[in-house]
Amino acid sequence: MTTNWTPQSWRDHEGIQMPDYRDGAALAAVEASLSSYPPLVFTGEIDALKADLAKVQAGQGFLLQGGDCAESFAEFHPDNIRDSFRVILQMAVVLTYAGKLPVVKVGRMAGQFAKPRSAPTEVQGDAELPSYRGDIVNDIRFEAGAREPDPQRMLSAYSQAAATLNLLRAFAGGGYANLAKVHQWTLDFMGQGKWARAYEEMADRIDDALAFMAACGIDPDRIPQLQSTPFYTSHEALLLPYEQALTRSDQAGGAYYDTSAHFLWIGDRTRFAGSAHVEFMRGLANPIGMKCGPSLRPDDLIRLLDTLNPGREAGRITLISRFGHDKVAAGLTPLIRAVEREGHKVIWSCDPMHGNVVKSPSGLKTRPFERILGEVRGFFDVHRAEGTHAGGIHIEMTGQNVTECTGGAAEVTDAMLADRYRTHCDPRLNASQSLELAFLLAEMLNEEMAERRAEAA
Ligand code: PEP
Ligand code: CO
Repeated sequence: MTTNWTPQSWRDHEGIQMPDYRDGAALAAVEASLSSYPPLVFTGEIDALKADLAKVQAGQGFLLQGGDCAESFAEFHPDNIRDSFRVILQMAVVLTYAGKLPVVKVGRMAGQFAKPRSAPTEVQGDAELPSYRGDIVNDIRFEAGAREPDPQRMLSAYSQAAATLNLLRAFAGGGYANLAKVHQWTLDFMGQGKWARAYEEMADRIDDALAFMAACGIDPDRIPQLQSTPFYTSHEALLLPYEQALTRSDQAGGAYYDTSAHFLWIGDRTRFAGSAHVEFMRGLANPIGMKCGPSLRPDDLIRLLDTLNPGREAGRITLISRFGHDKVAAGLTPLIRAVEREGHKVIWSCDPMHGNVVKSPSGLKTRPFERILGEVRGFFDVHRAEGTHAGGIHIEMTGQNVTECTGGAAEVTDAMLADRYRTHCDPRLNASQSLELAFLLAEMLNEEMAERRAEAA
């Protein structure tokens, strides 16, 4: 049991990046409703993810985490869920095939609604209104009524998360994710570019391997690992009244699980010592992530790890670094050394999105693909130099054919950004940029594995 912790002990700590609800009674009523609703995910699934992550931590797997920056009520549609899911499947199969490591798939899906913001208010012309904090808090329209935080939105977010999870479970377990369908996961608009062709060739080879197995008398239809795939959900645990309301103790061991998602993470803005978010997360049995940006000092990181994982449980902590393509070498190296020195065990994952935002000449926020790739390469280089495992990737992506990040083989230019710029928050990789990244990542992973084998020989 975690000492002096209860699901509400965060309320005595410094809670930032959360809205001030004007109507306390309405908030309490919503919290009471949510507390009686069914859990969205189950404790056994959460434990299974932690066991999978323990293998990643030991260098025997790779974590692929991706999805929207912010899910929205407006973009809630089965086609969007399906398309993001299948791009994650495509990326995973590329990484598994080329990188030769099992891939743990975690969506930034079914609950990624609350957003930290750099300023509490937004000014347009003469008007100043509260910032948009994600659809679970308020409405993106720049109007006074719309920007007022409304607790009822938590109930809508819960319903959308439940429906999204229901569909994801059907896709993951109901035949869609069967490896025999590897060809069918291709999206039309990926066209005939270099990476779409590379994917088709890889899918042909997988088909051949399945046919060979069948000829040897192994029926792929009887092998559960080929027919379905575990798929987990995650989001930033930012809106603590919502997270607390979905936190339940398992009858057996008295452990507390946040059942809003399998995996939750603490953002770069809320990971300071004494924060309400750190307090809440330390008592959960879920595997948790923490974003690590340029302002995180190595000794603060160690103190946070001592707080969040005093029992040094395997698979418990994923550190998600997000420095920027030109800062990753200098920023990540001292963190890895401190963690190694103190004997903490973590999964190192790379978020190459949040440190690489630039304003395009058109005024839109974008992330050049070359910089994203640059941070991923830097991340692998640092781990190679330190002898640690580059354990995962954390990306903002969508299965839609959006134009939000520039570059890549799809050659999205600054001038094209406005064509299909649909994100409610940060710019996402589109489907073909995501696939391209997966192939380039697989090469890097292969190099790491080859080096490890050479050292072991
Ligand atoms: C995010 O992942 O959407 C995010 C806000 O990241 P960070 O906390 O790293 O800024
Ligand atoms: Co984001």
